[in-house]
Amino acid sequence: MKGIILAGGKGTRLSPLTTVTNKHLLPVGKEPMIYNPIRQLISCGIKEILIVTSTVHMGDMVNLLGSGYNFGVDFTYKVQEEAKGIAHALLLSENFAGGDSICVILGDNIATKSISSYVREFENQKEGAKALLRKVSDPERYGVAALDEHKIIEIQEKPSKPKSNYAVIGYYMYDEQVFNIIRAQDYSARGELEITDVNNAYIKKGQLTYGILKGEWTDAGTLESFWYANEIMREVDNRIGD
Ligand code: G1P
Repeated sequence: MKGIILAGGKGTRLSPLTTVTNKHLLPVGKEPMIYNPIRQLISCGIKEILIVTSTVHMGDMVNLLGSGYNFGVDFTYKVQEEAKGIAHALLLSENFAGGDSICVILGDNIATKSISSYVREFENQKEGAKALLRKVSDPERYGVAALDEHKIIEIQEKPSKPKSNYAVIGYYMYDEQVFNIIRAQDYSARGELEITDVNNAYIKKGQLTYGILKGEWTDAGTLESFWYANEIMREVDNRIGD
């Protein structure tokens, strides 16, 4: 399995912190934000990691992270020229994936516990995808899962009337079908290829499983959540527990 960290986007909700700096390079606890998803993939035993970011910040990203030698892994980089959504960024990773399954992390998702048990579950799954969920108090901000006892029935992106409190958060596992699924998608009303549409396509095939992430978690895309990310990382000294 290979790892992909999506670290593009404009980070406008954090402006002016993000006027000259990529959101994923902002400090969270004692490290740049992107260290948390990197450590997360490493905790799962993943050694080949692709980082996707925008043209303007690629230089900074490479200056910070280098080859991966210091982390004991191999980094590959890919430029997303336009901010056309998460699934659009993911499509750029097809050659890197090379037919392998992939674990995708949105670079602004910060967690204190390893997702390795879910990765192992996914490796035992014959085909399809796996998404991680989390109960939240503000589901309108996320992709929201309508659930029955065993499975996700549907995911809605930022619904005004959420069908549950379970957000689909930024940790996804996909088999090699994902790229054909994205190619068959249309752009959404906000001009993006949506990850929620990818996950709904897997639901239609009956191939999307889920897990509920343990430990502390937040995304760090808004000022409030960015501050919270700092709190939880300071609490654990930026380490990821089992
Ligand atoms: C994105 C996804 C959304 C997901 C969230 C998790 O939203 O579109 O489905 O719940 O990440 O962080 P964004 O942060 O781009 O608004």
